[in-house]
Amino acid sequence: MRIVILNNSDDVAAYGAQLIIRQIQTKPDSVLGLATGSSPMKLYDKLVEAVAAGDVSLSQCVSFNLDEYVGLAPDHDQSYRSFMQKHLFERVDIRIENTHVPDGLALDPEDMCAQYEQAIRDHHGIDFQLLGIGANGHIGFNEPSSSLRSRTRIKTLTMQTVEDNARFFRADEFQPELAITMGIETIMESRQIMLLATGEHKAAAVKAMIEGPVSASCPASILQFHPKATIVLDTAAAGQL
Ligand code: GLP
Repeated sequence: MRIVILNNSDDVAAYGAQLIIRQIQTKPDSVLGLATGSSPMKLYDKLVEAVAAGDVSLSQCVSFNLDEYVGLAPDHDQSYRSFMQKHLFERVDIRIENTHVPDGLALDPEDMCAQYEQAIRDHHGIDFQLLGIGANGHIGFNEPSSSLRSRTRIKTLTMQTVEDNARFFRADEFQPELAITMGIETIMESRQIMLLATGEHKAAAVKAMIEGPVSASCPASILQFHPKATIVLDTAAAGQL
C-alpha cells in the first residue's frame, strides 16, 4: 500500500484527480470503477474542470459503479445512478451507454449481479478503481464480516451505515436497508485502486485498514494485499496512524 498524507480535503481531491487523469491520458479507453459518497465529490469537480479545459477526455472510457440501493429507481433523487449523473456523467463527455450502475429495481437481483460481473469481464476488468471507506471500514457496501472472496451481490446494511447515510435522505423519505455491491474479490481484481479518506470520523477505520490485521472485520484491510493500492488521506483521517 502506498500511503499519501496531505493537508486537507482539497489537496486530497487534487491529488486523486491527477492520478485518475494520468490513468485516462495513458489509456483513453480505461475501465473506471467509480464510487459515490462525500469522499469523491471534489475529485469529480476537478475531473469536470480538466475535461472542460481539454486536458483529458472520458469519451472512450467505460465505468462501473461500486454499488446501488435496492428499491430505488435510477431517477430517484437518492439513487447512486442519480448521484453519478449529477456529480459526473452529465458534466463530462463520457457516453452514458458506457456507464454502468447496478439496477436497484432488478426483478431478479441475483441474475442482475451475475450479469454485472459478466459485463466487467467482457470489458477485460477494471483498470482503476476509486474507493471511499465507511466509518466501520466498509468498501462499496461490503460491511464488516463480508467474505473477502465475495462477488457482486445484495448486502444488508448495518445500523451504523444506515445512520451515516441518513443525512442524504429526508426524514419522511424511504431509506433502503439493502444494497447491491461489487464484492471484495471483485474490487481486488482491479488493476489499480485508489482509496480517499478525509476527516477525523474516518481515522479509526483508516488505522484498522492500514495497521490492523487483514480481516473481514475491517473489509478495507484487504487492500494491504493489493499490489497497486494508493491510500490518499488528509491529516485528520491519518490522525490515528
Ligand atoms: C457509502 C458508500 C461507499 C462510500 C462510503 C463512505 O455508504 N457505499 O462506497 O465509500 O459509504 O461514504 P462518504 O464518502 O460519504 O463518507
